[in-house]
Amino acid sequence: MKISLIKGDITEIEVDAIVNAANSSLMGGGGVDGAIHRKGGPQILDDCMEIRQTCGECPPGQAVITRAGDLPAQKVIHTVGPIWQGGQLNEAETLANCYQNAIRLALEHGLYRIAFPNISTGVYRFPKKKAAVIAIEAVNEFEGHPDLEEVIFVCFDEENYGLYKELLL
Ligand code: APR
Repeated sequence: MKISLIKGDITEIEVDAIVNAANSSLMGGGGVDGAIHRKGGPQILDDCMEIRQTCGECPPGQAVITRAGDLPAQKVIHTVGPIWQGGQLNEAETLANCYQNAIRLALEHGLYRIAFPNISTGVYRFPKKKAAVIAIEAVNEFEGHPDLEEVIFVCFDEENYGLYKELLL
């Protein structure tokens, strides 16, 4: 499994699946969620609404999959990160679950190149350094998986990019 680091906009990345930092409603929002829905178009929200009707809200740490509409990626995996509340409410475990459940879901769908944003480090205020360590550790647990080809960390902001560069390279 190759781990890559890119500074840029995840909506422009051509991979099997990009991961969205969604909220439990799956009805879109700001940040990367807003960018994915804006650029991907209504197909993504249509699929999210169908998921809501059949399964209800997406709990933090869980992941669901939709088509990708006009995005270069094949699919979008929506996961809901923890809102940082000081670190005593299992935020670290929930964040790790986001990465691992997203990868599991991708593998179940035969998607072997996956791109992640820095989940929970924007609106949800998860400390960036802590989140980076958790994300990399969670992904490394899949080291050696026969099918998983590449995990790409896509950093939109300079601070996250610097942290991941320090930890990865
Ligand atoms: N590509 C890649 N990363 C992006 C992009 C983009 N186009 N836009 C923003 N980001 C980065 C931010 O810089 C941040 O590092 O995504 C990371 C996560 O930030 P948010 O998008 O704010 O997500 P999060 O902190 O998980 O909060 C989720 O925000 O947008 C709402 O609906 C969303 O309620 C949910 C909450």
